Formats: sequence, C-alpha cells, structure tokens
Amino acid sequence: MQAQPEKKHSSTCDSKEDSNKLESRYQFCGNALRITRDFSNNLGISAIIWESGLVLCRYFEQEKISFSGKKVIELGSGTGIVGILAILLGGDVTLTDQPVVLNQIEFNVTSNIPVSIIQRSKVSDLRWGKNEDQFPTDYDFILGSDIVYSPHDFPSLIKTLQHLSNQNTIIYISSKMRETMGAIDFHEKLLPQHFNSELVHRNEEKEINVYKVTKKAREQPSA
Ligand SMILES: C[S@@+](CC[C@H](N)C(=O)[O-])C[C@H]1O[C@@H](n2cnc3c(N)ncnc32)[C@H](O)[C@@H]1O
Repeated sequence: MQAQPEKKHSSTCDSKEDSNKLESRYQFCGNALRITRDFSNNLGISAIIWESGLVLCRYFEQEKISFSGKKVIELGSGTGIVGILAILLGGDVTLTDQPVVLNQIEFNVTSNIPVSIIQRSKVSDLRWGKNEDQFPTDYDFILGSDIVYSPHDFPSLIKTLQHLSNQNTIIYISSKMRETMGAIDFHEKLLPQHFNSELVHRNEEKEINVYKVTKKAREQPSA
C-alpha cells in the first residue's frame, strides 16, 4: 500500500501531577485519552509514549479499524495507550508487559476505561519466550508498537507471536525502522520466514512502518 501522510497527533498538554508522574493527553477516534508516565519505578523505555504507538493509534483512526467483539492481546504495552484505544474501539483486550510495568498500565487503564466496560480489559505479565504458553492461541488481533529494537529478543518475540496466533489472527506491528537496532532485518528477513507481512502504512517523516501480519499456512500451533 502507498505511503500516506501522517496527521500530527493531537496531544493537547502535558501536566505534572506530582514529581513521579507526568500526564499527556491525546485524541484518537473521538476518544480523549489521558496517559500517565510513572517515573517512580525506573521504568526506562516503558515510561515513554513512543511515536510508533501514536502512529498505530492514528492508523486505527484513519482506517476506521473496529475491535468490536474481538479478542485482542497487546505485547510490550508500556504505558498502554494502544491497548486502551483497542478497548475503547470495542475489543476484549489483554495488555501485557514485564511485571515491573504492570502498575503503570493498570493506572492508565483505570483512568481511561469507564467502569461499565472495564471487564473487557485485563493486564498481565507476559515475557516473550518465557511464559507465553500460559496464554491462549486464538486471538483475533495481536498488537505491538515499538517492540522491535533488540535483536537478542527477536527469536523470543517470534516464538511468542507463533504461540498466540492462528491463521485467522491479524497482527499489527508498528516499528521505528532503526537500522542499527535490527528492525529492518526483523521485518524484511526474520518475520517473513514464519508470517506473511504487508506494509500497510509508512510515516516517512518519522520513519515508522505499520505492518499487517498473518501466520503462514504451514505454521502449526506450538505445543
Ligand atoms: C519501546 S517500549 C514500547 C512501549 C509501547 N508499546 C509504546 O509504543 O509506547 C517496549 C516495551 O516492550 C517491553 N518489552 C521489552 N522486552 C520485552 C520482553 N522480553 N517481554 C515482554 N515485554 C518486553 C518493554 O518493557 C517496553 O514496555
């Protein structure tokens, strides 16, 4: 698909709540999101709202993607912005990350999801290549933004995607195409060994690609 110009995301303001928290506001698909970054636990890269996440949210908006009635899992949620939008777009969503990040995600889910639909959200510890087999294999959608940056983790990430998906699963991965961090190799060489992958959107200015990925027919569910 041809590259499309990216609209600027509509972050309205950053406001310090306390010395350990910073809230930013966004507007996607008619939903006002308040996303808080928690600096109290040395979360490092997990306490950043990455451009790849914003590009993926904007892609969902532009393409009018609906997750209504769908079973969705997000990998490496960080602040949770992508998974939270997926809940608001109708999904039954499990947001996952490493254990230390889960409080920040819980905080943002609670701040953004009305009580009436909170039962469609879940926050879980999922470490790639370690405990994905505790999760089902029948997700309709798998989402990931800025999760492709550490070549050491690529085999575990692939293993996790293989476990969680079947041939009907649609995987959206939004990646900053940093040559030094292996994203180009991951998307052009490694992932295509196991999955069909289509570039569906590119933000030229930010060098961020969104891929729509499905499992190849010969892939079998992992034991
Ligand atoms: C660059 S951040 C992206 C966060 C968020 N998706 C975004 O776009 O703002 C990468 C996230 O992946 C998570 N992550 C990295 N390696 C992981 C692993 N092996 N298992 C599970 N999560 C991992 C990190 O904890 C972090 O929250």
